[in-house]
Amino acid sequence: MELLRLEKDAGVALVTISRPKALNALNAQVFDELQACFNQLREDQDVGVVVLTGDGEKAFVAGADIKELAALDGFAAKAVSARGQEVFRAIDGFPKPVIAAINGFALGGGCELALACHLRIASERAKLGLPEVTLGLIPGYGGTQRLPRIVGKGIALELILTGGMISADRAFQIGLVNKVVPAEALLEEAKAMAKTILSRGPLAVQFALEAVGQGLNVGEMEGECIENNLFGLLACSQDAAEGLAAFSEKRPATFTGN
Ligand code: CAA
Repeated sequence: MELLRLEKDAGVALVTISRPKALNALNAQVFDELQACFNQLREDQDVGVVVLTGDGEKAFVAGADIKELAALDGFAAKAVSARGQEVFRAIDGFPKPVIAAINGFALGGGCELALACHLRIASERAKLGLPEVTLGLIPGYGGTQRLPRIVGKGIALELILTGGMISADRAFQIGLVNKVVPAEALLEEAKAMAKTILSRGPLAVQFALEAVGQGLNVGEMEGECIENNLFGLLACSQDAAEGLAAFSEKRPATFTGN
């Protein structure tokens, strides 16, 4: 991989998008490498949580590569949008938690990438927005669909229609990010959250992602059905037996993921 760095430590994979000269903008190669990287991490038994960030102090990801977009005709642009949607859908549906550590500008496709992650922690320096209308476009990597599901229709439309940038604090107020932390503490905070999740039952974490992720795409009754079946499956696991026994015996649980 040329445009991504992958570091692994104690169950956490840190993936850094690195195209600093273009503020880590997403070109076709970044999409190919993201797809390959997540495919690899899906199978990696040593990884339980992924943290995704951008190289440098300035940007998480400043969007789709505008220079690449400018060269496309309508049909090619439709294909590029579908490709971005495909890669981000795989991140959204990833069976292990993915935390965006937003270290700077998260604009356009960069904001959409953060939206596809399961959790978002922002540095106090981060700026987020969907400026596509300023380019005569609309978000094309799932932003029109994920943002209203996360912050509600009214606030989502404010961001999408004005194309304005918001601060990390405002992003926290509207529920767009889970937490805002000092820039120098960002990766440590993301890793600490990852560590907490890693201490929980791995199957329970996986099935919770599945219940919430799948449930958002169906009606409430169908969602409850998904939850109900996953709850029953988990109750048969060794981890559930261990978790329930550990509670009664007043000791920490030791989960094995079985
Ligand atoms: N694509 C390609 N290159 C980009 C880029 C992008 N999205 N964003 C920044 N760059 C490049 C700049 O062209 C510049 O390169 P040069 O030095 O070669 O000119 C370099 O990164 C540094 O950027 P700036 O000089 O502009 O830095 P700044 O501090 O003055 O401004 C910024 C920072 C406000 C983030 C500004 O760069 C900016 O507005 N970037 C574009 C943000 C944007 O509109 N994103 C949406 C893209 S469209 C999209 O994402 C569509 C979709 O959903 C599918």
